[in-house]
Parts: sequence; structure tokens; C-alpha cells
Amino acid sequence: MSARSFGPVILVHGGAGKVAPDLVEVRRAGIRAAAEKGWQTLTAGGSAVEAVEQAVKILEDDPAFNAGRGACLNRDGEIELDASIMDGRDLAAGAIGAVKRIANPVTLARAVMGAGGPILLVGDGARQFAATVGITECVAEALLTERQRTRWAILREEDAENVGTVGAVALDQAGHLAAATSTGGLPLKAPGRVGDSALIGCGTYADDQLGAASCTGNGEAIIKLVLAKTAVEFLRMGEEPMEAARRAVRELTARTGAEVGIILLDSYGRIGVARNTAQMACACILEGNTEPEIFD
Ligand code: GLY
Repeated sequence: MSARSFGPVILVHGGAGKVAPDLVEVRRAGIRAAAEKGWQTLTAGGSAVEAVEQAVKILEDDPAFNAGRGACLNRDGEIELDASIMDGRDLAAGAIGAVKRIANPVTLARAVMGAGGPILLVGDGARQFAATVGITECVAEALLTERQRTRWAILREEDAENVGTVGAVALDQAGHLAAATSTGGLPLKAPGRVGDSALIGCGTYADDQLGAASCTGNGEAIIKLVLAKTAVEFLRMGEEPMEAARRAVRELTARTGAEVGIILLDSYGRIGVARNTAQMACACILEGNTEPEIFD
């Protein structure tokens, strides 16, 4: 895996955790498609914000991932979605938490960012805001997959895949950074529970002066360590991105023992990837290398 670039970069992840064998190849294909979409956006002159939104939307639409369509169910058997996005140019950010019946939460989070008011909207307020910006609700069944319904019904986590969250970080041709994250959260979560993916600094962070990060894994642990911002702060201290990502995961592991992963990009387009789980499918496209590099 190449670690250095000075041109546009897109790096995406499909969640850290244990992947069911029948999903491994499907998820690799999804990650590849998301990276390609982000790359097309960047090379067409699109911004890093557009690139991470487009990449994450591909994964939200793909039922093999725990975000948008394919999200896991909460304790009551409902889908509640979290997402966030951040623009490294000016630290603008938008997020939504515990939102139902929204097919592309990352697009709603971007609309929240664009409105320039509150950074985080939850529940019914987020749905009301969606209506004002023309984002229509889908029927609940449109997000529900047989896999997640069965998984919820049997409640046998040790036999089911436990992979959560998708995310992307990008550097555009103008040198700006962005990050986005989207998730159905943890299976059987309490209704109303909002995890790290909706919280700026925890699941998502971007600052042109330092770097951009998107996290996956146990949201409560990620919130305790403010993991995305912590990893970016390691860049400020002079760490290379790969070591900054590893150090962030090491510290979280030591303090909480929870399972997590992170992708990280610095302002030079150098990448960092770390996880303490068996798998975390990632894809990266760097300047001069239009074929995605896929790694688990
Ligand atoms: N990282 C996803 C969640 O805990 O909600």
C-alpha cells in the first residue's frame, strides 16, 4: 500500500469487524465502487466534500454495508441512522442522529452543514429539516434487508457478522480535506442511542491544516477517546499518518479494549489505516494510480 501522495486522494472504509464469509467479496466490490465514485468526483474538479458524500452514498445504497439500506436494527426492530460530514476548509460540519426512513443520511448531514445553523439534528427535528431541503422519506422497508432482519431475530452475535459503519476521507485538487461517516449503529442498540458517527471529533473530523479522519467500531469507546480528533492531533504532534492512526487505535484499545478502526489522511495526501479487528475493508485511489488499492 502506497502511503505518500500530493495529488487528489480518496480513501474509504466499509466498517471494522468480523465479516460473514459470503459478504467478503461483495463488500470488496462495494468499497471499490465507492472509491471509484469518489475519485471520479475529484478528477472532474469536484470538492473533497462532494467526493466523500458521493463515496459514502454508494455504500449507503449497497445492502452489504451497515449504513442506509442494509443498516442493522435497534432493540425495537427499527432502523435509526447516524451520519456526519466535515469540510476541512473552514471546519463547517453537519450531522444527523437517530433518523428513520432516510435513504442517504450523509446527504442529509451535508444539507445540515450547508444550512449553517445547528451542526447536529436528531430524530423528528432532523426529519422535519429534511422536508425543508427536499429530502423525502422512504418507507421503512426500503432500508430493511433480510440479512439484518434475520440477524435481529436470532440475536446470535457470535454467529453473525458484526461490522458497522462506512466512511470516506478525501483530498481534492485544490488541497482541501473532508471526511464523512454513516452508520446504522450497533445491532440491538437502545432506541434513541446516538453513536460516534453523528459526533464531530469522534467518528468524523477534517481540518485542512492537519488531516481528516473517519472511524468505525464501538461508538461508545470512540466517543470516550474522541478518536477522530485524537488521531488528527497526533498529526499536529508530527506523527506520520500511518503511525498516528495506529497510535490512536492502540490508545483506545489500551483504555477500553473495544474494537475499532480508523482511516486518516493528512494535508499532503498521505494515508493512515489502523484497526484492532479481524477485518476492515478499505479502498484507496491516489494520484497516478487510478485503479483502487483494496486492502482488509
Ligand atoms: N461506530 C458506529 C456506532 O457505534 O454507532
